[in-house]
Amino acid sequence: MAEDGSAAWLRYASIPNPAQYSFLPSRIAVRGNSPLEQTAARELQQGLSSMLGRPFSVVRYDPALASITLAPVTSKPASSASIGSHEPAGVQADSFRIVRTSAGKSTSLTIQGETPRAELYAVFHLLEEVGAEKPIPAVDRQAPSAPIRWVDEWDNLNGTIERGYASRSIFFDNGHVRQDLTRTGEYAHLLASIGINGCNINNVNADLETLSTEHLHEFARIADAFRPWGVKLALSIDLSSPQTVGGLSTFDPKDPAVIAWWQKKVDEIYTLIPNFAGFTVKADSEGRVGPSKYGRTPADAANVLARALRPYGGVVLYRGFVYDNHLDWHNLKADRARAGVDNFAYLDGKFEPNVIIQIKEGPIDFQTREPVSPLFAALRHTSVAIETQTTQEYTGQQRHMVWLPSMWKWALDTDMRAEGADGRARITTVKSIVEGKAFGQPVGGYVSVVNVGLEPNWLHHPMAMANLYGFGKLSWNPGQPLSAIIDTWTRLTWGNDPKVDSTIDAMQLASWQNYESYTGPNGMGTLTNILGYHFGPGIESAERNGWGQWFRGEKDGIGMDRTTATGTGYIGQYPPQLAAQYESLATCPDDLLLFFHHMPYDYLLHSGKTLVQSIYDAHYAGARAVAEYVPQWQSLQGLVDDQRYQQVLALFTYQAGHALVWRDAIDNWFRGISGIDDAGGRLGHDPNRITAEEMKTGGYRTVDVDPWETASGGKAVVCDGPTACTLSATLDKPAGRYDIAVQYFDTWGGVSKYTLLLNGQSIASWAADATLPPAQADPNLDGQDSTRFTVRSISLKPGDLLELSGTPAPPVDTARPQRTMSRELAPVDYIEIGPDGPITPQ
Ligand code: GCU
Repeated sequence: MAEDGSAAWLRYASIPNPAQYSFLPSRIAVRGNSPLEQTAARELQQGLSSMLGRPFSVVRYDPALASITLAPVTSKPASSASIGSHEPAGVQADSFRIVRTSAGKSTSLTIQGETPRAELYAVFHLLEEVGAEKPIPAVDRQAPSAPIRWVDEWDNLNGTIERGYASRSIFFDNGHVRQDLTRTGEYAHLLASIGINGCNINNVNADLETLSTEHLHEFARIADAFRPWGVKLALSIDLSSPQTVGGLSTFDPKDPAVIAWWQKKVDEIYTLIPNFAGFTVKADSEGRVGPSKYGRTPADAANVLARALRPYGGVVLYRGFVYDNHLDWHNLKADRARAGVDNFAYLDGKFEPNVIIQIKEGPIDFQTREPVSPLFAALRHTSVAIETQTTQEYTGQQRHMVWLPSMWKWALDTDMRAEGADGRARITTVKSIVEGKAFGQPVGGYVSVVNVGLEPNWLHHPMAMANLYGFGKLSWNPGQPLSAIIDTWTRLTWGNDPKVDSTIDAMQLASWQNYESYTGPNGMGTLTNILGYHFGPGIESAERNGWGQWFRGEKDGIGMDRTTATGTGYIGQYPPQLAAQYESLATCPDDLLLFFHHMPYDYLLHSGKTLVQSIYDAHYAGARAVAEYVPQWQSLQGLVDDQRYQQVLALFTYQAGHALVWRDAIDNWFRGISGIDDAGGRLGHDPNRITAEEMKTGGYRTVDVDPWETASGGKAVVCDGPTACTLSATLDKPAGRYDIAVQYFDTWGGVSKYTLLLNGQSIASWAADATLPPAQADPNLDGQDSTRFTVRSISLKPGDLLELSGTPAPPVDTARPQRTMSRELAPVDYIEIGPDGPITPQ
């Protein structure tokens, strides 16, 4: 059966052994009368009927008959953690219990929630247990770890999405909310099923007109589509709105007219959207205006909004992502990582109780691995939320499989060793901080930037929805083991076949470390092109500019000196015990070393390898590991539906090729700067490669590639002419079967065509028609678009003539005219002839 992935983990596919749930009564009764409970009952009916292959029905409650009963709790909820709303607040509002009772031969289940939404969560929990074939315990009590469990969507009103990789917005088009909000409702359904209770629908770089009355009326339709699923709508706002929307002459948060304007605007919002969740604020950051314009603080700005929202139970998520992007790179003491603590710590305790500081997990920007932000431990009288990115901006943009919950859990489990009142360090995990437990704060939580799009499967890569699922699960219970989370996702998404489950689970669980291995090592950041689209390798783009993502790669060594002894002092922003661990080379972990220290290339790591050799080895190992995804996936053919099978196969094949681009770029660059050879003898010795420049050409012209490390020898060839050009070489391979890979560049400048010929006979043809991110015009040949096509198992003998014919894109690309900036000239980097077999050697 074909599946397009739109149902994600809510497929409700029939389970192999439904008899194990034969005790479940087929009657579903609802004792409350809210629309949410009706939604919950219908969901249960549909899900159970579909998974168990027998009819369930929603009926009137009858105490004499066995049933699954949804009921509100009778006890009055505690009012702790209330921030002004009239319902139970905090985690209490979302807690539920499921109790199983038996009378004679019949079993009943009672589902009790503190609120109707909690009953809905209980229903999804039960459905998940059945879908993943788990036992249903006699009593199951659940409460989420924190009240804020939100997703952010960086959608623009024109329908584009900042850092979105699965097509256009499900909410907006052409300056308006879409007429058809079917996908919006379906998305809320998915969010509710994993306990997400808030969704911010627009870009943190908010449109200045966001709060116009016209837009608010339209947003109310989105809120209506969310409401049956208990998802509240939030908005990103620009702090200059009193000027841009309100026509005032100022947006100074201390100005009485500005304060009154916000109050009136918030009143207006709540008349249109009575369950409005609140505002997210990006201010004084990356070109956004902020309170600094008037000499005011983030607390001044946040509190004005918070006071207006508080009577309604709304919150302000003020982002801790405030930094100067015009730092002086000559200044060895300048350090972007310091910005969070420098800009917020002195304000601790000065925020209204419904202000939450939303802190990115690391101090820079969603890199493959960063230490956790020191701001988590610096705010002790202020609620905080952790911000993660489900959209894989710096981690492969949903063209690489990277299961990010591994990274998030690593961050959440980090023990910051904050001192208690007695001055002694104690266990202070990041999760205990965002849960509000560590410092007794009421409204913290979890936010993830998701950026789903109109593509049927929401995030482009069929494996990427595991990131959203994992985010929901970790924010409900950060203590859950990763293996349990991924296994449930796999079962619900791909079925309960043991081979399918163990294969996918293992791949997902290893995927973050694999990605890290072939990209940015030892805490250097992802090493992607930070001035471009954050996708392919672009190492030096991080250096010598105001953005402050420097790693200071010099001849003598590499890494940012952030020590308190000789560096920027950033390490001193952590609580003393953790600071001491990072400051000392004896205890600083290898995988964060270069984030904190400037080290020589031959420095001996704890692993026993030199820094540079460890980097070489990790890159070879990482690329090899992802090449193995392909045969591992192929072993599941026939066990999963063909549509998603083919999609994943194409993406894994692509990832395997792109991992080689990363590996070679990073390793060659390190060899260049360090002058130290790979002790394994691999680097710079590619006996199986023939670079395009060394082949005999018919019409091709050699060009420099920038950055040089993203092409072999820093060069490629392009075909300028109107017709095809050729490359040819006479082979001297011993007779046998080989794989032949062509490394070429697939830019957005049209669709070039390639044909590979052996002794004049065509053995493969393909088109450079990938829809790689960035989905913008970019004519450059570099690590973003370097792509591999492989022909398997070709019989070769000495003296064979191998030819590649490349036909450049026609001058105007009618298929993608808006993306045509300059023609794609059938560019080629090299041809590699390796041993027959799917795994790349080395
Ligand atoms: C990153 C991202 C931007 C985004 C910013 C933010 O820098 O590249 O697109 O606006 O984060 O989180 O505000």
